[in-house]
Amino acid sequence: MTAFGHPRRHLANTDSTNARGRQLAIEGAPGGTVVTADLQTAGRGRRGRTWSAPAGKALLCSAILAPLELRHSLLPLAVPLAVCEAVESLAPLECLVKWPNDVWVAERKLAGVLIEAEPPAWAVIGIGLNVAIEPTEFPPDLRQPAISVGHGVGVEAALDAVCERLGSWVGATSERVVAEYTERDALAGRRVSWVGAGGQTAEGTGVAQGVDERGNLIVVTTEGQRLGLGAGEVQLVESG
Ligand code: BTN
Repeated sequence: MTAFGHPRRHLANTDSTNARGRQLAIEGAPGGTVVTADLQTAGRGRRGRTWSAPAGKALLCSAILAPLELRHSLLPLAVPLAVCEAVESLAPLECLVKWPNDVWVAERKLAGVLIEAEPPAWAVIGIGLNVAIEPTEFPPDLRQPAISVGHGVGVEAALDAVCERLGSWVGATSERVVAEYTERDALAGRRVSWVGAGGQTAEGTGVAQGVDERGNLIVVTTEGQRLGLGAGEVQLVESG
């Protein structure tokens, strides 16, 4: 089992902990290495978006997993499960996972995950967890409403809890990951719309019905067609 957090490199200010993590991974840093920062000037989100947070109020961390093996194929689902458990060990919150790997509390985004990988050598697991950001401190142009852990929880405690749970979930079997994801599935039974399946402009609407053994989102379209949407190809869009 990888012990995450050893060694740890903390930077007061950096462009992106994922960028630093990538660099360390390329240089051969051992699995378990974690990079953290108080502030990022070019924090990366999924799909080329940016990720920003006020200094010292969010957990901004990137953990190196090396080597990346076949048994890690559900890593994108396993990581948010680890974050859910870590948060719930610190505060009286109930966390759900919004496919593919956002952590949600009360319909608001608490954490995001960005995994960058160079298989089979390494993966950098980037986690941005809102720990103590006040509602007024979130950027007004956020696409989705956001929330923090609150309850007096600090960033260091959040890091310790996340590292501990990551160690357990990163090596979990696919069966365990899918079973736990099913318990925490924020989209189950909900109508979702997407773009990208079967080509950049293809779009669709259906009802989400969990994930398959490869982590694809299963949807049943209005026409009754059952599809498996891959996180790399499709993008969910807001729907009723
Ligand atoms: C998303 O929801 O779009 C994923 C956001 C991931 C943000 C984290 S913050 C720490 C790490 N460093 C980055 O540049 N990005 C990830």
